[in-house]
Amino acid sequence: MSKLTQSSVWLALKKHYVDIEHVHMRDMFDADSSRYSKFSLQLGNILYDYSKNRINDETVKLLLQLAQAENVPDWTAKMFDGELINHTECRAVLHVALRDRGDKPIMVNGVDILPEIKLERQRVYQLAEKIRSRQWRGATNQAITDVVNIGIGGSHLGPMMATEALRPYTLHDLNVHFVSNIDENHINDTLEFLNPETTFFIIASKTFTTQDTMVNAETARQWYINKVGDDALINRHFAAVTSNIPLAMKFGISADNIFKMWDWVGGRYSLWSAIGLPVVIAIGADMFEELLNGAYEADQHFRTTPLQENIPVMMAVLGIWYNNFFQSQTMAILPYDQHLHRFPSYLQQADMESNGKYVDREGHRVDYTTGPVVFGEIGIAGQHAFFQLLHQGTKLVPADILAPVYSLRCVARHHRALMSNVFAQTEALMRGKTAIEARHELTAEGYHYDQIEQLLPYKIFPGNRPTSTLLFDTLDPKTLGSIIALYEHKIFVQGIIWNINSFDQWGVELGKQLAKNILSELNDSDNIDSHDSSTNGLINHYKHRRPGGAKKLHEA
Ligand code: F6P
Repeated sequence: MSKLTQSSVWLALKKHYVDIEHVHMRDMFDADSSRYSKFSLQLGNILYDYSKNRINDETVKLLLQLAQAENVPDWTAKMFDGELINHTECRAVLHVALRDRGDKPIMVNGVDILPEIKLERQRVYQLAEKIRSRQWRGATNQAITDVVNIGIGGSHLGPMMATEALRPYTLHDLNVHFVSNIDENHINDTLEFLNPETTFFIIASKTFTTQDTMVNAETARQWYINKVGDDALINRHFAAVTSNIPLAMKFGISADNIFKMWDWVGGRYSLWSAIGLPVVIAIGADMFEELLNGAYEADQHFRTTPLQENIPVMMAVLGIWYNNFFQSQTMAILPYDQHLHRFPSYLQQADMESNGKYVDREGHRVDYTTGPVVFGEIGIAGQHAFFQLLHQGTKLVPADILAPVYSLRCVARHHRALMSNVFAQTEALMRGKTAIEARHELTAEGYHYDQIEQLLPYKIFPGNRPTSTLLFDTLDPKTLGSIIALYEHKIFVQGIIWNINSFDQWGVELGKQLAKNILSELNDSDNIDSHDSSTNGLINHYKHRRPGGAKKLHEA
């Protein structure tokens, strides 16, 4: 048994769960008119309402005791102080340094990293500004009209999500595209309508070895050379963001166009570094600074606010309450803002790559469940797709709802209708509909007694389905920065309580290793028998069915 599940507060929570399991939130709201004010918090213009959760004062007290007992404040200090908390890779975890606005040095291996961060950021801003102002010229002396970011995972999802989220702040005559998939359709579909003389590529890869990115980068370079025909001027059209500078140079990009990443920034936490270059090109340096300001504000809130008023801590312990006591396996992210349409995918990596782990910090298998399956979709789209399961399914799916009070391009008719859905869904999920209410409705609609009895079971909504709502004024860069940072810290707190390292990702290695071996087996049309019968069968089927399958194939 782990220390965690044997701890007195964990056992108290288990006992408390039995008390609360069958209590309906409806009744809790009826019994306590102060529930909303008691269970909501604010950071700047961001309101976090967690009152529609299956909690009472005792639950919150115990959950916060758990956070305290697992030393969340100490670990937070360790992270901000640059201790090597990513112990399996022997690295500090300092994405917070990338948005630090203070002047106190942040030391890694005896060196203050802030001057280098600022220097690199200025280089990013300079390149972005030249491209945005049309000063930057391609090989044929034309201004850049299209920027293509080639990267995957953390080198893709963060900048893509933020660029989409901040669309109203982007320049209209400059398009920013994102290519991640090694499937050639992705890059071909993207390049099909672009002019190589006015296209600029960013090869974003912390390691500069990720197969998907390197294959796409090579295709981009070939496309450029085939059309423009001048390898010598490649630097007019290519930049790299990486911590592997020698490999970027080997690719042909000169030092001037290489932007540095550091080993103390995890890929999925790297939006704030030069990985944000496409975002800076899209929205400009001033707005990117606002994004950093927002994140910094959330960092300060997280670092200095007592646990009971600390938004990321509350988000984290609620997740633990459902995950470990209600045994819910999932977590839904439901933004009611079209511009946040890639936010669920972004959070999926941030959360699942961080906390999808079964081995604790001491190398032991955990005896409790860790990170949830995170999924999500624009709320309105979800309502017409999978909300049926949220309302009447057999699984408990805690959901976060994110919505803006107003949209920048506000059309009142649209926005009011949108928001009516936000409020209606959280209410419906919480209250449900009782048999009495359903019977009344059917009677009012003119159904006969027999029909009512037949239909009734289907018309009942059990309710008691938890949601937390993040309501913010509007999706400006600062607010987006804060929201992202709140989630980063939520993930951190959960990792601490589960006693896992949220900052490595060994689980992605095995598939990569096997793919490397299998790739060499795909070079010819010979049947293979080196795997299990399913893998052999699939590979051999593929080899025989692919165009030219019967012939010996040479690597393209
Ligand atoms: O394979 C997973 C992963 O290593 C992620 O952690 C990372 O964000 C992504 O691949 C891309 O890695 P890189 O930036 O090194 O290309």
